[in-house]
Amino acid sequence: MYETLAPVTHHFYPLQKYTDPADEAFAGFHDLLRGPKPAASDNMIYLHIPYCEKRCTFCPFHVRVKRDPIVYERYTQAVEREIAMLSELPYVKDMTFKAVYFGGGSPSLLTVPQIARLYDALRRSFAIEPGAEWTFEGEPTGLSNPELLEYLASQGTQRLSYGVQTFDEELRTIMNIAATVQDALNTNDRAKALGFSDVNVDMMFYMPGQDLEAVERDLVELDNCQFDSLDYYYMSYYAMPKSTFLGMEKGTYPKKPPTEMRGEMHKLVRQRMAEMGYHNVTDHVFAKSPTGSEYYRLLWGGGFGEHNAETLAIGASARGYLNGYSYANTLAPDPYVDVMESGELPVFKVSGLLKDPRNRGMVFFPKFFRMPLSRVPDDARTRLLIDNLVEAGLAVVGDGELALTEEGKDWIPNITIDFFEDEQEAINQDWIGELDSHYSNRVTL
Ligand SMILES: C[S@@+](CC[C@H](N)C(=O)[O-])C[C@H]1O[C@@H](n2cnc3c(N)ncnc32)[C@H](O)[C@@H]1O
Ligand code: SF4
Repeated sequence: MYETLAPVTHHFYPLQKYTDPADEAFAGFHDLLRGPKPAASDNMIYLHIPYCEKRCTFCPFHVRVKRDPIVYERYTQAVEREIAMLSELPYVKDMTFKAVYFGGGSPSLLTVPQIARLYDALRRSFAIEPGAEWTFEGEPTGLSNPELLEYLASQGTQRLSYGVQTFDEELRTIMNIAATVQDALNTNDRAKALGFSDVNVDMMFYMPGQDLEAVERDLVELDNCQFDSLDYYYMSYYAMPKSTFLGMEKGTYPKKPPTEMRGEMHKLVRQRMAEMGYHNVTDHVFAKSPTGSEYYRLLWGGGFGEHNAETLAIGASARGYLNGYSYANTLAPDPYVDVMESGELPVFKVSGLLKDPRNRGMVFFPKFFRMPLSRVPDDARTRLLIDNLVEAGLAVVGDGELALTEEGKDWIPNITIDFFEDEQEAINQDWIGELDSHYSNRVTL
């Protein structure tokens, strides 16, 4: 049914398109914020810190390398201001939160007193449930600071998340990763000693120069570490600088593995993770516990075809979803700080509303591998798409649910896009076209 993997994985739906405050969607979103919340939902807070120690060569995120205490302090003050403004909005006053996620970038670059100010501001300003899941993402050099880990543990933070990517030191150096493997191991040991219940690491396969043996070596190391959970991504190359692609052609840089190897590596990862006792809880997430984090459940609509879960976004380039609209904050950190200092809300881009809100549940269902048939919208287009998936052996229908097969799990980005409404599909095509022209590498390699 599919021949090539879709180039990007979507984490937000509907897609953000409108940037002009005069647009109907933009105005509608702002009106929404200024009125009461029409219906209860499960909600989380995502707070973004956009700075890193070094920029990893592969990283497509909106991050900046500043290493300047004045920049970090101005940013912290801007976030405090945004928290205060959001907390005054009638819509947000009606929200309660089941999870808080400090993401990045590398939030561990802030000082402990700055992090403490943000924790205090969040607690003071929002109705965060007592048992809420708190995750702090960082980068292992910062997280190996004992003072930071002790502070986070003292505040009831249950989850820590950081990038390991690979245990191959040579490849780490080539990819400009700041931390050493030892930093990553120290962080795990200290976090376990302090009682964090979920130490989560990010890993990647399909990295330059990797073959199946290289992936196997990383998997053996992972077995020794026994992390609680892992986000295991295949590496996407679209943000790699042109110079690295030229290096691949000249033989001065390790080559991108052959395309067909990505599927084989993915199968190897799934197989070994299962043998190590991990559950493949969602798309790229493996966990010792059979249920995944609240973070991904809430980010992707609530899980298993649910579509109502909401995300309140805070910080530069943070993305959120509120009552039918997804939205993005001002992307780059300096303009974000300027907007906050001018006293405006930093919302920069907003989606339109879907024709059928249940289609958000359909779009995210592949990430959870299954959904009850009772949540499937009963329209001809959805039925046809499901029939096609079943006929191609990518999904099965039975016992009151729709479920992906093992083969279907290899095509999650494509299945996700197939369930897009027509208008969303058109926005996606435009966006992919922009990516292609901006990163011409993706088409050539
Ligand atoms: C936003 S980063 C935050 C983690 C943290 N800054 C760190 O690297 O330790 C989240 C994860 O996205 C993954 N990632 C980054 N670039 C990627 C790429 N080009 N393809 C696939 N995954 C990528 C990495 O595994 C990274 O750890
Ligand atoms: S440390 Fe994480 S967020 Fe920063 S550049 Fe590397 S992968 Fe990207």
